[in-house]
Amino acid sequence: MGVKLLCLFLTSILVAYYIYSPMPEDFDEPWKVMLIAATFRTVGHLAEAAEQLGLMHYMETLMLISAFEYVEPTSNENVTVTDTEFNNVSVRLYLPKKESDGLRRAVVFFHGGGWCLGDAGMKGYDHMMKLITNLLNAVVVSANYRLAPKHRFPAQFEDVYSVTKFFLQSKVLSQYGVDPARVAVAGDSAGGNLAAAVAQQLLEDPEVENKLKVQALLYPVLQCLDLNLPSYQENINKPLLTKSLMIRFCAEYFTSDPSLREAMASGRHVPLESSHLFQLVNWSALLPEEMKKGHVYSSPVAGSSELARKYPGFLDRRAAPLLASDAQLRGLPRTYILTCRHDVLRDDGVMYARRLQAAAVPVTHHHAKDAFHGALMFVETPAYLTVADRLCNGFLEWLDENL
Ligand SMILES: *[C@@H]1O[C@H](CO)[C@@H](O)[C@H](O)[C@H]1NC(C)=O
Ligand SMILES: *[C@@H]1O[C@H](CO)[C@@H](O)[C@H](O)[C@H]1NC(C)=O
Ligand SMILES: *[C@@H]1O[C@H](CO)[C@@H](O)[C@H](O)[C@H]1NC(C)=O
Repeated sequence: MGVKLLCLFLTSILVAYYIYSPMPEDFDEPWKVMLIAATFRTVGHLAEAAEQLGLMHYMETLMLISAFEYVEPTSNENVTVTDTEFNNVSVRLYLPKKESDGLRRAVVFFHGGGWCLGDAGMKGYDHMMKLITNLLNAVVVSANYRLAPKHRFPAQFEDVYSVTKFFLQSKVLSQYGVDPARVAVAGDSAGGNLAAAVAQQLLEDPEVENKLKVQALLYPVLQCLDLNLPSYQENINKPLLTKSLMIRFCAEYFTSDPSLREAMASGRHVPLESSHLFQLVNWSALLPEEMKKGHVYSSPVAGSSELARKYPGFLDRRAAPLLASDAQLRGLPRTYILTCRHDVLRDDGVMYARRLQAAAVPVTHHHAKDAFHGALMFVETPAYLTVADRLCNGFLEWLDENL
């Protein structure tokens, strides 16, 4: 009996020690976030172990999270949900059942997951898309683009671009009763990256007759050039996206070759001949004073040209929308950007907001001081967080007012 109790006691201490990680004071529900973070960390450890043992690619193990969260397309009293294809790319389509006086608004959405993970059918996304459909009486298209490591850049971009372009055709919009002047693109994390890249590319595409009204970028990734921004330094191990996982995602978008990942981690992946691009992601010039505090800007070091020759994608603005010139940003649609304080990607969003404003694009920048990367996914029980509800409502209100 004594031994059993002692074992139980020791196990509890080990479990508590494993689960416990200090959380920022301003989180609303620190214990819940800690449990969620511990779950993600555990899957991360399993993924590393499985990869070391040669059983599975790291991302394949992480993909189990999305599989676990997957829900079939299920209609309810307000929304008809179906899985279909647009231009040979899978999409989950949400059509409102409510009558509409006139033409409807529409949102084309891209899920997050570091270009490697995620699915439009994940509970959190499915729930959010139903909310948008119902609240805005809008048509929502949630794209299931191809993922790495099986498919590399630009497959992800090409899929979402092709879905958007297909949908923006007048005959398709009219088939769904959508107003051609009221279409949005939106996405979170890597999906925000894709949304920003799509919005840029559409400006230059002479075949597209209908333009976007707005873009909404929810804690987007916007560049992989400088992975040591103040936000990367301050949030190196914050939930749910650590610096090392983000670097892994950035590299996997282009290759599983560990030399790119290692060069990115040490900031030696950008060759000398591309060093002019650094001014476009120069945090010293683009961040407000309060975010620069305690950090000293030093000019980036140049790496060898070999990686950039083999994997030129990481210098391509379809993968890094912050690399667009000021002239290329001009004319982009009205923009919503959500950034979270406790997020390695905070500065990407802040710098893009700043650059868009300088290019005379109307921007609403919502900076959530008490939130972390991925928070929006937790809009449904049992993994419900009040912060998710708040961020989601802010996003939906903005969409309702501006789309
Ligand atoms: C359907 O819409 C009504 C009115 O907006 C709402 O009260 C109800 O909760 C919705 N039902 C579902 C299943 O979302
Ligand atoms: C559609 O996608 C499938 C694979 O998913 C491919 O085999 C086929 O060639 C594609 N068709 C077109 C018209 O692009
Ligand atoms: C970054 O901006 C600072 C000014 O804030 C400037 O001194 C520095 O030369 C810039 N560096 C690059 C690489 O653009």
